[in-house]
Amino acid sequence: MSLVRIVGALDPHVHLRGMEWAHKGDFATETAAALAGGYTAVLDMPNTPPPTTDSQGLERKLDDLGRNARCDYGVWLGAHPSGVRPEAELALLARGVCGIKLYCGHTTGGLTITASQMDRHVASWPGPGVLAAHAEGESVSVFLTALARHGKRGHLCHIDTARAVAEVAEHKSRGTKVTAGVCPHHLLFCDRDLPSLGPRGVMKPPLGTPSDREALWEGIRRGVIDVVESDHAPHTWDEKLGLPTPFGVPGLETTIPLLFTAVREGRITADRAVELVSVAPRRIFGLDPRPAGTYTLVDVGARRTINQESLYTSCRWTPFSGMEVWGVIRRVVIRRTVVFEDGEVLAPKGFGSNLYDNFC
Ligand code: DOR
Ligand code: ZN
Repeated sequence: MSLVRIVGALDPHVHLRGMEWAHKGDFATETAAALAGGYTAVLDMPNTPPPTTDSQGLERKLDDLGRNARCDYGVWLGAHPSGVRPEAELALLARGVCGIKLYCGHTTGGLTITASQMDRHVASWPGPGVLAAHAEGESVSVFLTALARHGKRGHLCHIDTARAVAEVAEHKSRGTKVTAGVCPHHLLFCDRDLPSLGPRGVMKPPLGTPSDREALWEGIRRGVIDVVESDHAPHTWDEKLGLPTPFGVPGLETTIPLLFTAVREGRITADRAVELVSVAPRRIFGLDPRPAGTYTLVDVGARRTINQESLYTSCRWTPFSGMEVWGVIRRVVIRRTVVFEDGEVLAPKGFGSNLYDNFC
């Protein structure tokens, strides 16, 4: 066995579903998937029904997560297209979330805002959490410019093109406080794979060209890209076969093994892989860098084939099905309790804690 220890692996970008979308996945099944994938904590996105855009939506989600989550968690607030929340309410909401998400492009959930709304949301966010954006094409520079103009700290989610990598690099060199994330599907697939992937290749942002994909790897190596985030977004297979095809793919159980496969292939070092899934996301999202008794052991010398039948995610399919990967999750420990070992999830529902309870 060749074990790598990751302290407090954190996926800052997941759609656990639950509540009125429990048929796609719920907080118990999808946090089981997080543990099976080697994560000790996840940050859940707000584009759910009901949306996490006000105190009622936040309370409903936190209540459900509190009863069902098997791993630790944080919740994203969502910027609502109807406008910025009143100042006092926003200040209160900000203390219970990891940050606010701005949807600046059409995707699942109907929270898309316009460019001028984006500027207002950026200007009014009180922190301490992070402003994050789903931005594609032109809206990448609108977001980066808004961060620079208002001196705010932000995270650009799932960057997908060579142009976005160049824009982030430019802004970082000018001192804009921005970090960027990338998803495994954008690192491993491209538009040429669409015919073989079918509905498994439909997500937002969409798959790019082979040169976009190369620029993403280069962005990781040069430190322009800071984190790898799964954008875990389960939809049932029946839904994926319907029209219009819903955007999104699951990713919690495949990201860490795929990254250690990239290590094996010499694309990145093992230290960089650990940085991308733990050190950097913990720093960006304001969490203790060395949480006591909270770690994952990955056997990076073990090889296996990704098999969708053995997934914990309730959708039970993956675009990575059939791929050979290096890296088997042997054990996950949270606050000194073994929560996953050799294929078995051991944490009961409700074991997970909210990492942003009274965040200041
Ligand atoms: O592919 C995606 N799926 N991209 C998103 O932005 C949202 C996500 C979802 O919630 O289904
Ligand atoms: Zn997402």
